[in-house]
Order: sequence, then C-alpha cells, then structure tokens
Amino acid sequence: MGAATGPAAPFRFADLRRGGEDARPELLAGLRDARASIPPKYFYDELGSRLFAAICCLPEYALTRSEARILADHGSDIARAAGRGRLLIDLGAGDCGKAAGLFALLQPAGYVALDISADYLRDALGRLQQRFPDLPMTGVAIDFTRSLDLPQDLLAPAGAPRLWFYPGSSIGNFPPDAARGFLARIARACSATSPGGALLIGVDLVKDKAVLDAAYDDALGVTAAFNLNVLNHVNRLLPADFDVADWRHVAFFDAAASRIEMHLEARREVSVQLAGQPRRFAAGERIHTEDSWKWTPAGFAALLEEAGLPRQRLWQDAEGGFALFLAEP
Ligand code: AVI
Repeated sequence: MGAATGPAAPFRFADLRRGGEDARPELLAGLRDARASIPPKYFYDELGSRLFAAICCLPEYALTRSEARILADHGSDIARAAGRGRLLIDLGAGDCGKAAGLFALLQPAGYVALDISADYLRDALGRLQQRFPDLPMTGVAIDFTRSLDLPQDLLAPAGAPRLWFYPGSSIGNFPPDAARGFLARIARACSATSPGGALLIGVDLVKDKAVLDAAYDDALGVTAAFNLNVLNHVNRLLPADFDVADWRHVAFFDAAASRIEMHLEARREVSVQLAGQPRRFAAGERIHTEDSWKWTPAGFAALLEEAGLPRQRLWQDAEGGFALFLAEP
C-alpha cells in the first residue's frame, strides 16, 4: 500500500476510558501504601507520550531500533506468515509509527489503534489518515489492560481476519502472571472469530546489566524526565501538589528478578497533599513507578503456550537482543 497525500477519509474515534473517577482510588491506594507506587500507565499524558517517543530515539534505548531492524530484515517472511489483508489492531499505538511501518508489508484491510492517551492518539491518527487516505482507520482511547471488550462495530471491516499487534515489549511492563493473563485474553479474542486471529508481539530479551541500566538511565536524562513527569500527571488527576524538584530518577536492572525497576526517590523529607490528605515521605523514600521484565526466547515461548498461543514463529535481531513472535491458538 502506498502512502498518498490528498483528501483523507475521516477516521472514526471512540473514547472508552472511564474517566478520572477511576484513576483517583487507584492512585490514592498506591501512594498511601507504606511501599508507595504509581501504575506505569499514568506516564502517558500528552507530554509523557512525547517523552516516550523521544526515549525510543535514544542511543541507549536500542529496543525500538532492534524491533524495526527485525521487521526490515524479515518483513516479507513475517508478512507471509501473518497473512496480508487483515484488520490490524494496534495495542498501545502511541504515535502509530510502528504500525504505519507495517502497512506496505501487511496491506491491512483496516487499522484500529488503541491507546490510553486520547488527544495524542487522535492527532497521530489524523496525520496517518492524511498519508493513507484509503485505509479505514479507527482510534479507540481505552485502558485495554483492564478490558479488551471492544464494541464490534469499531472493528471494521467486520469479516477481515484480525492481527493483534503488541510491539515494543510493552508486555514486559506486566508481572509474569499478569502477562500470562493478558495474553490469554488475546488468545480468547483470537479464537472468538472465524477465521481465527493471530498475535504479532515484540519482547525485549535479557542482556548485559550495564546495557540495560543505561537504557533506563540515559545520559541526556530523557528517561528521568519521563519518570518525573508522572508526578505532574498525578497532580492534575488527584489533585496533588508534588514538586518534581523534590524527586530523583532511579532505575536499575535486577538480574535475579530479570526486570528493570524504576523509582522516584525523595531528595529530602517531603510532605504532599494527596486529594486534600497529607502524606509524608522520608528523605530517600521511594515511589515505585515501573517494572520492565526481560525475557529469554524460551521463557517467552513457554508463556505464550501457557496463555493458549502454542503455534509460534520467532524472529530475532543479529545481536539477539530482541524477539518478535507470531503466535496463534
Ligand atoms: C513502554 N515500555 C515497553 C517501556 C519499557 O521499556 O518498559 C517504557 C519505558 N520506561 C522507561 N523507558 C521506557
């Protein structure tokens, strides 16, 4: 499919988020806990989405480039295995750039982009529809980690076999049990349609600790800004009065647990108003903001199988740093 400019068919857009009243109890419970935490989905306000796009360009964060390399080197093979003419459903579309890079290969019958960041997604789809005016496109603002139940009329064209696309190792942000549960939901969605669906999923692999530490604590401080910005988002959602200057970014790879941990650490004793209630943080106390699990190819293949996706193909980059799986029930 060639990109074009010209009058674009207006894409459809649905906002299925349940609003700020859902965020408040979850954020308050996490922040009032003795081991304070903020779920990583709150990184992605408008600025957070832009900072994440910048992270993907950093020299230290090879993940995005490794995945793109696999798609460039094995694209025809992947397209043959995945099948052309499918409805491409993009989980966590962000700026839609990764999926757009697949259009020429996969010749999708339609594109459905899901993301929690509504305005960012709407803008990205607007630009994409200009480039691909003939491709039916739908944007859905949704927290798909809670539910994958999508109104069927949004999944158009209806008869096209579905390819669920979950790139960028976002699955790594789930603890293993939750990852299995989420993949099992995709497996059920794949089985629920005829012809059946398939999942194309990218996963970052275990590698040297120094490489992983640098990927999550880059020299320019973009990941630090991404991490700190979650406090600005929380300030608006609760409201609260966090001052980002009181906090420092901490990120490290825990090899025994096979995961990156990200935290915000209080530079000094801090007192914060959380929806009108005070919460004191001691100097050095941390708020846990993200885990990013790293997998081995065999470990992830077993996880897919346990989730009900036993038929698999695997492609890797030359350095063995990243894996792309096509998996089916
Ligand atoms: C979105 N997710 C896969 C990224 C990751 O690598 O875990 C989020 C991120 N956090 C810090 N840098 C990037």
